[in-house]
Amino acid sequence: MPDGQEKLRRNTTEDDITASVLARFAATADPRLRQIMLALIKHLHAFVKDVELTEAEWFQAIELLTEAGKMCSDKRQEFILFSDSLGVSMVVDLIGHRKPDGATESTVFGPFHRLGAPDMLAGGNIAHRDTVGVPTLVSGRVLDLKGKPIANAELDVWQTQSNGLYDAQDSNLNELHMRGKFHTDAEGHYLLRTVLPVNYPIPSDGPVGAMLKATGRHPWRPAHIHFVVTADGYDPVTTHIFDRTDPYLESDAVFAVKDSLICDFARHESPTPEAATLGISGPVYTTEFDFVLKPAGADAKTDVHDAQRRLAALGAR
Ligand code: BEZ
Ligand code: FE
Repeated sequence: MPDGQEKLRRNTTEDDITASVLARFAATADPRLRQIMLALIKHLHAFVKDVELTEAEWFQAIELLTEAGKMCSDKRQEFILFSDSLGVSMVVDLIGHRKPDGATESTVFGPFHRLGAPDMLAGGNIAHRDTVGVPTLVSGRVLDLKGKPIANAELDVWQTQSNGLYDAQDSNLNELHMRGKFHTDAEGHYLLRTVLPVNYPIPSDGPVGAMLKATGRHPWRPAHIHFVVTADGYDPVTTHIFDRTDPYLESDAVFAVKDSLICDFARHESPTPEAATLGISGPVYTTEFDFVLKPAGADAKTDVHDAQRRLAALGAR
């Protein structure tokens, strides 16, 4: 070795491999990316060392992730399902919304949102093909933090059919169903017709299902309706409303229940005047929920929705 040349060390040990890998990322120009990559390496290495992961287990994990990737399409997002069922989506949600500020609380997006839900007028029925469920009217207002109505807010709504399946999971369906986009009127009111939401198991025919089974967990989610509420000049909110009577509120498979999102669905044996106007002749459930939006923040929350759209577009390819 010529004089003065530093001796190259090629044999790392399990004690110094982490420092070597971290050093390789030290020049990352973007400070946030640098922070994320360094922490990711640190925690990943610590995890592998902690459980002393075997090579067979590591290959099994790669197999699982490959299987998850293969299941993703415009109708299925197995990685969101993993994130949700491991509680990661809710950790991200809770960090992102630390301070209670009077605005409607958010919860998981889930893997079943689809682009292209039809625009519907007030009172429009998202469940037009569901002949089994009990008709249900959901109404309320979209308000700002001071209680002022927000006109022309958009509510993008989705829900399972009363057989517990989303349209994309139902092999008898070749079209969008149980989805619609509604807009508030000048007083901030919205009204939509659906069927009573039911509890349902998250898909368990893939790697997430295998993980739930192997760990003795149930796959059930309490009955809910999904909403993404947007309005010009306000932060959008991605959320659900839940049925207070559901037995799975305490053990949601994706940890997404928040008290403020639990609603009473009231049963009426004969139609309310509003239900009768909409042509409902038998029993009907009604519930009311007001959404409160906060003014658009500096950290434009629209980024989230752009990311959600990019993900959907990726699945459609
Ligand atoms: C959903 O509510 O659609 C959902 C959320 C997380 C995982 C699976 C389904
Ligand atoms: Fe859902």
